[in-house]
Amino acid sequence: MNGVVLISGGGSNLQSIIDNAEKINLSIQCVVSNRADVYGLERAAKANIPNRVLDHKLFDSRKDFDQELMNVIDEHQPDIVILAGFMRILTVEFIHKYQGKILNIHPSLLPKYPGLNTHQQAIDAGDALHGACVHFVTETLDGGPVIAQKNVKINPEESAETLAAKVLKQEHVLYPKVIHWYTQGRLKLLNETTATLDGQVI
Ligand code: GRF
Repeated sequence: MNGVVLISGGGSNLQSIIDNAEKINLSIQCVVSNRADVYGLERAAKANIPNRVLDHKLFDSRKDFDQELMNVIDEHQPDIVILAGFMRILTVEFIHKYQGKILNIHPSLLPKYPGLNTHQQAIDAGDALHGACVHFVTETLDGGPVIAQKNVKINPEESAETLAAKVLKQEHVLYPKVIHWYTQGRLKLLNETTATLDGQVI
């Protein structure tokens, strides 16, 4: 199955997807970053994957940026669009175009802590557990149906940094696994709030 991966940063999730690509039957056609000089682009280049920078600051509006992003993506006709640390809010036009084909990984146990600074929020709230989720992307930010999650314990002396590192390690296991379910045709988005795995609502 063909995929395009969108990134904005270091790309450690991208790396885990690259490392597992053959096993999970994914051919990464292109990696697109909205920031130049991010290590994720080097990871793509090292794996001989075509990569592009689309600097959002060079566009007049979110709509214009997303339109160009769609143009770039469509050059590759992907079956799946994988958000791997892509730090941009997408327009409704974009989301509708690839409805049911866009996955994201988010570093919290959704519906807790959508948005940013999730690790600190979990610590400040005194939570015993934190983690990461993979979900289908819908119009609601970090609000599409959750497909799977991994938990980590929050230790008494935990900092946002140590917690982020622990969660990231789990993300690297979780994301390729869920992408594999997708490439096997086992995952379907039914509507804004519901998805199925093997025909069962999850
Ligand atoms: C991860 O924590 C991911 O959940 C979040 O952004 C981070 C990206 O890390 N969406 P990396 O670029 O994959 O290392």
